[in-house]
Amino acid sequence: MLEDKVIVISGATSGIGYAVALELAQKGAVLIGVGRSEERCERAERALKDASPHGQIKFLLADLSAQREVRGLAAEVASWVREKGFGRVDVLVNNAGMVTNWYTATEDGYEMQFAVNHLAHFLLTHELMPLLEAAPAARVLTVSSNSHRRARIHWRDVMMRRRYNTLLAYKQSKLANVLFSAEFNRRFAPATAMRAYAIDPGLVNTDIGLKGTGGVVHWVWQRRQKSGVSPEKGAETVVFVSVDPSVNGSQEVYWKDCRPESPSKYALREEEATRLWRLSERLCGISK
Ligand SMILES: NC(=O)c1ccc[n+]([C@@H]2O[C@H](COP(=O)([O-])OP(=O)(O)OC[C@H]3O[C@@H](n4cnc5c(N)ncnc54)[C@H](OP(=O)(O)O)[C@@H]3O)[C@@H](O)[C@H]2O)c1
Repeated sequence: MLEDKVIVISGATSGIGYAVALELAQKGAVLIGVGRSEERCERAERALKDASPHGQIKFLLADLSAQREVRGLAAEVASWVREKGFGRVDVLVNNAGMVTNWYTATEDGYEMQFAVNHLAHFLLTHELMPLLEAAPAARVLTVSSNSHRRARIHWRDVMMRRRYNTLLAYKQSKLANVLFSAEFNRRFAPATAMRAYAIDPGLVNTDIGLKGTGGVVHWVWQRRQKSGVSPEKGAETVVFVSVDPSVNGSQEVYWKDCRPESPSKYALREEEATRLWRLSERLCGISK
């Protein structure tokens, strides 16, 4: 049982994130789920409490496209874990993600997929760092994708304001997940027991490509999703890397099918990762 694990999961109201949360709740983890819809958060909290042996489940509402909400969320997580007497986060699962057809700017002025799929995870991890440091060996998982392999960071126009392409923006954000995890380990693994991992869940039958999309993206995903595995199957590697003791201390950054795998060569380039980290700090208003 996992009663001694305090786990935060973003995007825990549907798809892979919900399946991960349910499995971990059944195994007895103390869970904080994050969602953007009050109704879906309430529904998920009720279901997970029913599934948990002790009911230590809390859902928090945040639209991760807005940095002020990410900061507010981190403050709420901190106050809940302190009030409950845990004072730490053992596992952070940065799972929330989305696709959008059109160039959309967030309230902070950033491209939506880059903001939700990468910057929100970067900022939430930063804001939760005191609680992660308080855990004996915290793990920070970010749900990436095989689609990172044919991607690069568009340094001249990271927000793709000049020429927006849905798929390129999505792939760039999933590459950013791997670069972030690798750089996290370069910065923290030598001196601490904290580790970051990027997870490839495979092709999973969820509604990700049907929300906030239309036209060809919607049409393609409706057909493609049918070839995907179930969210429960897609959740397996996330659950494994979150809590399996065999992962302890591993510095393998990219995991698929409960095994380490090599990410793309680009994703292992140190200079790209450092550059992205610095840019992300600047875009999140983090000063060292
Ligand atoms: N499905 C695949 O084949 C696949 C493959 C590789 C990687 N992935 C990755 O897996 C992760 C989960 O995706 P999924 O397929 O399970 O999709 P999903 O079912 O749509 O789940 C995405 C989750 O993120 C939440 N979310 C989206 N935008 C948000 C925002 N602005 N603020 C807060 N929460 C937000 C959604 O909330 P709602 O419930 O309110 O919509 C949902 O809980 C994503 O990072 C995705 O890129 C998926």
